[in-house]
Amino acid sequence: MDKKIFITTPIYYVNDVPHMGHAYTTVAADVLARYYKAQDKEVFFLTGTDEHGAKIAEAADKSGKKPKEFVDSLVPRFEKTWENLNIKYNGFIRTTDPKHEEVVKELVSKLKDKGFVEKRKYEGLYCVGCEKYLGEDELVDGKCPDHGKEPIKQSEENYFFLLSKFEDKLKSAIKNNEIEITPESRKNEVLGKIDQGLEDVSISRAAVEWGISFPDDPKQTIYVWIDALINYYSAGKMFNEEKIWPPDIHLMAKDILWFHAVIWPAVLMALDMPLPKKVFAHGFFTIGGKKMSKTLGNVLDPNKMVEKFGADVVRYALLREFPFGEDGDISEKKIADRYNSDLAGGIGNLLNRTLNMIKKYDFESDIKDYFSKKDWKSINLSQYKLLEGEMGLKKELDENVDNLNFMNALVDIWLHLVKTTNGMIDNEKPWELIKNGKQDEAKKVLMYSIGNLVLFSDLIAPFMPETAKKMEDQLKTLEPEPLFPRIEDK
Ligand code: MSP
Repeated sequence: MDKKIFITTPIYYVNDVPHMGHAYTTVAADVLARYYKAQDKEVFFLTGTDEHGAKIAEAADKSGKKPKEFVDSLVPRFEKTWENLNIKYNGFIRTTDPKHEEVVKELVSKLKDKGFVEKRKYEGLYCVGCEKYLGEDELVDGKCPDHGKEPIKQSEENYFFLLSKFEDKLKSAIKNNEIEITPESRKNEVLGKIDQGLEDVSISRAAVEWGISFPDDPKQTIYVWIDALINYYSAGKMFNEEKIWPPDIHLMAKDILWFHAVIWPAVLMALDMPLPKKVFAHGFFTIGGKKMSKTLGNVLDPNKMVEKFGADVVRYALLREFPFGEDGDISEKKIADRYNSDLAGGIGNLLNRTLNMIKKYDFESDIKDYFSKKDWKSINLSQYKLLEGEMGLKKELDENVDNLNFMNALVDIWLHLVKTTNGMIDNEKPWELIKNGKQDEAKKVLMYSIGNLVLFSDLIAPFMPETAKKMEDQLKTLEPEPLFPRIEDK
């Protein structure tokens, strides 16, 4: 059997309240998964929660709960958010799952057996927010730039993974796209940083109890990041999915690219395992230019936005607002603007006016007939070549989605289908054609519009599954109902 396309999001720290930043990566992964599924490809889409480490232990302590009890109580918050956003993952992994813990221990033991682990003393500046040691050069005014806090000096005897041994291998794997790091600018950043030299990384913690115990040394736990990265592999074991390895795409924001583009592949190289094919780092959602994060307290709750606008609108606004690789601001106002312009005023209006005219001019039976034949070519409005251009649009869309150019994909669909069709109706004025007794001409215009709406609902389905379904129903029954009613009316 063929390999399944394996798509991952990061596993999110379970004590974080899911916010728009998390939703961003997860929605993108869902769109990608749905897109490939619609092409009849087999897909495994994995997400989950990261549940060990100092940060979570601290939070559990504060809430007066035992860590396991604490993390158990938090998982539903993520599951519920993904349900609200209509995310259809194939597996949700938790790092406290015993099967995952077993696989992590197994792989770390293998790393040891193969001679890539050494015990050493270490001293450094640790940011609990990042769960990693930071170099002096990474600090801004002595503070972690992402968390705005001073890291703490920490010194301990740890096990180290000999990352430095993989410098050359990593460089060539990245350079020749064996691991494809995208966008290109990020790839160059990673290569530049590798060129400065790779230091071995500590993969155990003596000070952290809440973690998977280190093989043959119960005084230490496995560093939460190593534990977390291995989720991508343990998932196959957990969900009995033998055909998913290696991952086709790891999706994440740029904050954790280094772990995915360097540390993770090096671990896999050390274990002689096939490498992930693609690592894509998108930008940050910002609010007033600052990264959206719990620590900065400037988060936007996707659940509230879904309640207000509906899942599809949030999905659309997230991916439409700015290019996927870049940083960009998001706000309730921006979502509302998209709602009013592109959705209610754009596609909603097109569908509504088309169906209303069909009803008014009594074209229902002809159009139903047309549907049963699906005979696109029989419509011939020479100045509007769009239906014949269907293949071109699909090809462009495939390319955009393959390259994670979600914004371009959406802009294209709107431009070619919504804007052109609305413009065509404005030009042809079916209401005047009817007045002048040109029934057939008017019918052609509306059929053309219907054709484009059918195509639209098909192409938009991975992005806006509910909208696609609603459109399909209305197009089949020819019963108009506002797709995106005015927000005040909701
Ligand atoms: N637990 C680690 C990941 C382990 S993966 C083996 C972690 N978790 S996290 O909860 O902090 O999630 C980080 C990820 O959340 C980012 O890489 C990104 O996918 C998403 N985002 C969190 N905040 C974000 C923004 N403000 N903007 C865009 N994405 C953001 O790191």
